Amino acid sequence: MKIAFFDSGIGGLSVLHHALKILPQEQFIFYADEDNVPYGTKSREEVLHFVDEAFKFLIGQGVGAIVVACNTATSVAVKAMREKYSLPIIGMEPALKVALDLFPERKVLVTATAITITGEKIRRLIGKLHAQNLAELLALPKLVEFAELQEFKSAALEEYLRSELDYDFENFSSVVLGCTHFNYFKDTLREILPAHVKILDGNAGTINELIRRTNLQPAQAKNLPRTEFFYSGRRVTDLRELARLAKFLHRLNEMEAIK
Ligand code: DGL
Repeated sequence: MKIAFFDSGIGGLSVLHHALKILPQEQFIFYADEDNVPYGTKSREEVLHFVDEAFKFLIGQGVGAIVVACNTATSVAVKAMREKYSLPIIGMEPALKVALDLFPERKVLVTATAITITGEKIRRLIGKLHAQNLAELLALPKLVEFAELQEFKSAALEEYLRSELDYDFENFSSVVLGCTHFNYFKDTLREILPAHVKILDGNAGTINELIRRTNLQPAQAKNLPRTEFFYSGRRVTDLRELARLAKFLHRLNEMEAIK
């Protein structure tokens, strides 16, 4: 069974990267909607349309499950896609529950795109977790641009993060990366945030949910998992583009241990 990972761009590679480690015997398709990235600054109608197009393509590829490795697309479109298709569809959820389970009663800064942060889905999550007084929300749209440009470390990036993360972190336990593009910047975030503030993402939770929904078997990395890459429906075969994707995966290897 082929499993699809879908994102507006290369953020979803951070979720695929985790799956490649845990499910090395599977076959994956990675679909980056590079023609339309970023989603976070577009209208909900536009994003719904893009996700609909991507799903049509992926269903046409005969995939057995789709991981929406994008918080923004999950927030806008996962409900509609589940109503339309019966295959397992696994979405992203900002790791607010993980943060509150680890550190009850401590504040959490949830970072994401503007669409995710203003959406109904996150409001419902906060309500369900009774976290109205604990969750603070912050949009970091520029990180999506930095990531797509592979600007992983620079003075401009650091300046942007320092000015946005202007919080008194004493009462915060953690910063949640509620956008899959943000995982590329864990080293700079680690430098800026006080040592007691943990950096949490939803990748492990998403892959656990994929395993639960599909009965896939986690394994030791014996085989090299096979992944086909697509940009907005076009198979990526150009060696320069494949090298670009490899560079992102390499960066994610480096970021993996940073918590
Ligand atoms: N990677 C996406 C997310 O997890 C969205 C980035 C964007 O396209 O704005 O929210």
